[in-house]
Amino acid sequence: MKNRLATQNPAVSDREKRHSRIAAELAAEGMVLLENKGILPFRASVKTIALFGSGARRTHIGGTGSGEVNVRDFISIEKGLENAGYTISTKAILGRDEANTDKAKQVYDGQIRAIAKEKGPLIALLSKMGKPFMPPILPPLDKSATDNADACIYVLSRVCGEGADRRNEPGDFQLSETETTDIKLLAQAYERFVLLLNVGGAVDITEIRNLPGAVLLINQGGISTGDAVASILSGKTCPSGHLAATWPKRYEDWPCAKEFGDPSDTWYREGSLVGYRWFDASKTDPLYPFGYGLSYANFELRFLSAELHADQFSVSVMVANMGSIAGKEVVQLYSGYPKSLVAFGKTKLLKLGETQTVSLRFSARDLSVYDEGQSAWVIRSGEIPLYLATHANSTKLCAVIKVERDIICEKCRPLFRSEQLRVIKTSSPEETYDGNAIRIDLKASNINCVSHGYSDDESIDEKAKTMSKEELTALCVGAARISMGDFSVIGNASSELPGAAGETTSSLETIGIPTITMADGPAGLRVNPKIYEKDGLYIKNPVEDPIFGLILPPEMVKADLSGTVTKYQYCTALPIATLLAQTWDMDVLEKAGNLIGAEMEEAGISLWLAPAMNIQRNPLCGRNYEYYSEDPLLTGLCAAAVTKGVQQHKGCGVCIKHLACNNQETNRNYSNSHISEKALREIYLRGFEICVKLSSPVSAMTSMNLINGIHTANDRDLLTHALRQEWGFDGAVMTDWGVTVDIGDQSAQRYLCTSAPGCIKAGNDLIMPGAQRDVDRILEALHDGRLTEHELRLSASHILRMMRRLEMITKK
Ligand code: BGC
Repeated sequence: MKNRLATQNPAVSDREKRHSRIAAELAAEGMVLLENKGILPFRASVKTIALFGSGARRTHIGGTGSGEVNVRDFISIEKGLENAGYTISTKAILGRDEANTDKAKQVYDGQIRAIAKEKGPLIALLSKMGKPFMPPILPPLDKSATDNADACIYVLSRVCGEGADRRNEPGDFQLSETETTDIKLLAQAYERFVLLLNVGGAVDITEIRNLPGAVLLINQGGISTGDAVASILSGKTCPSGHLAATWPKRYEDWPCAKEFGDPSDTWYREGSLVGYRWFDASKTDPLYPFGYGLSYANFELRFLSAELHADQFSVSVMVANMGSIAGKEVVQLYSGYPKSLVAFGKTKLLKLGETQTVSLRFSARDLSVYDEGQSAWVIRSGEIPLYLATHANSTKLCAVIKVERDIICEKCRPLFRSEQLRVIKTSSPEETYDGNAIRIDLKASNINCVSHGYSDDESIDEKAKTMSKEELTALCVGAARISMGDFSVIGNASSELPGAAGETTSSLETIGIPTITMADGPAGLRVNPKIYEKDGLYIKNPVEDPIFGLILPPEMVKADLSGTVTKYQYCTALPIATLLAQTWDMDVLEKAGNLIGAEMEEAGISLWLAPAMNIQRNPLCGRNYEYYSEDPLLTGLCAAAVTKGVQQHKGCGVCIKHLACNNQETNRNYSNSHISEKALREIYLRGFEICVKLSSPVSAMTSMNLINGIHTANDRDLLTHALRQEWGFDGAVMTDWGVTVDIGDQSAQRYLCTSAPGCIKAGNDLIMPGAQRDVDRILEALHDGRLTEHELRLSASHILRMMRRLEMITKK
């Protein structure tokens, strides 16, 4: 494919305008109304707004790290409100706050540059990721800041991202003292007060949630965040987002609260009781439950029927809008115990008095649990209740499934060296269910039991048969062989498309194998917005480069820009994945994927390094914003819908990541997740399994961490036996960036880094972004017999087959 994205014309293109409008629509669908004491939507009489808070002008439209999208411009909350016709009465205060923020940013950039000068760019980059710039706490407000505006809005902002976890401290998970007193002051001073939460994940608002006013979770809504917010506040859009994760009353309510963030070992003691499953089992009241969200409309749900045909259940529900404003409702169906989401659906826009029948479908297999003793998915004998709900705490029993004896649905084999963990105990309830509820008999004869064979004789691609060891190795190691010493810059290792994350070698073009260009994900395409070209080549390291430009001291930026042509590559920042999941609308997710696919086609990008599908296990994980949910079903379905959207574009594929258990950022390359096979399969792998089975993603990326003592990048059971043989994945697997490089002081680590030949042996086909060392180590391992040529040819075959699917080389 060819890069048609880079243009010499700096004007905003029609595509940019069109995609910004779509981004606004998508964002408005996923924002969640948490509180509303008769304030929203604003009446037509609201014309002036007193706007405060660090996110008012400097709105965060996404998170940091490789998941950040470099945009030309964006619609802040201030701009969005003005676009919608409101007058902002606090311009002077916003100007003062902006100046404060800019000053703090300059100081921060200076510190990063100083580190680069003293310790080198890699350490500077890691420091930047480890402690991203946080908006400063603004000077406290007093009564003199308030005025006669018709309404007041306070925008509370947080940002986080790759390379660091959040902290349970004021200014991060908790509110700072100034924020709390300012919010209280404003909520009392104005008749109409709205708190906007411009955050990547949960914050502790327990102390202020009951103030008069409204609270809207806007997350980080992408390029058009401000327009989406204005649309909801003015009533043009009726909020219909529902939470994709539980918000706790206190951070300590999380079962993994205390142990989270250990640099070496993470103990998954809560097993499968993650998120709402835990809150339900431990009878802990959350602040806002999973699936929760208010509307301007008022819905009533009526259960109609529950049926079973073969192994497929279908539950019908009538939804009626009894309110005066048109809106959409999300209907959820849970099974228990433990409480688990089994199906959901969203209505169309229902007008006053309008009704719609929503049909919720799921398969009997969705009721099974993983039994380690039998290495099988089993539906337990007894009664399984089904609950209809609008969030995880509003459940109403609607039917009971009677299972006369244990039914085995799928036979596997032990794969994950299950560890004996000291688990947190909860007592499972001895419940009897209302005798009037519908009973459905599920029998073994309803189920076709699947038995997996695990075979090691996979065929070699014809082209791979003809390639030399050196050519095979070149294909299986990414192209960034030298950059920043021995280490390539994360998220910026492509020379074909500046700012893209990486690419495969161009040295095989002579034998008909082109380069595969890859860009991050997941909130859009991450490339450099402004590039320089000379004699058909891109000049690297210009001053404006989003990474080099910041971390390198000016004297280290060698780029000579004389005689270069300036070009622009503008992509759309979509809402963060969590916000998209909060829509609970798979058409929205597919639309997002479709938009990204269109930009990929234009840019000549073959692989999008997303969707990111890790489970939001703890609210402090720095990358939660890139992930969909704490629930594996919602995660898997969202990823499948996005994948369908992207892969309907010619030559475009996704890369589902990070397989698996990348649930913390602290020391992520060397962190060992200790977990039972049951929890792994039921929660942490389940989303990947659903996505692979439903949408056939062309590639997958392993995580940086270890699971039960083995790096996922080197785990043959995970990559070959589970991913390929159990779930039917037929694409290529790649490593996360730099996992084979031993960064920093190795003696300080409890675990070693990933081995390059070990990747190939495990069926991890492509080592990214690639280093000369990876090539050398693979060739050495072939030489001394630790790796066979057959294993290398198999990995090359996976890559070549993926390229055939992407029509990069001819189909055979
Ligand atoms: C991240 C990946 C990303 C890659 C390329 C890594 O640091 O963990 O999610 O795709 O960089 O930018």
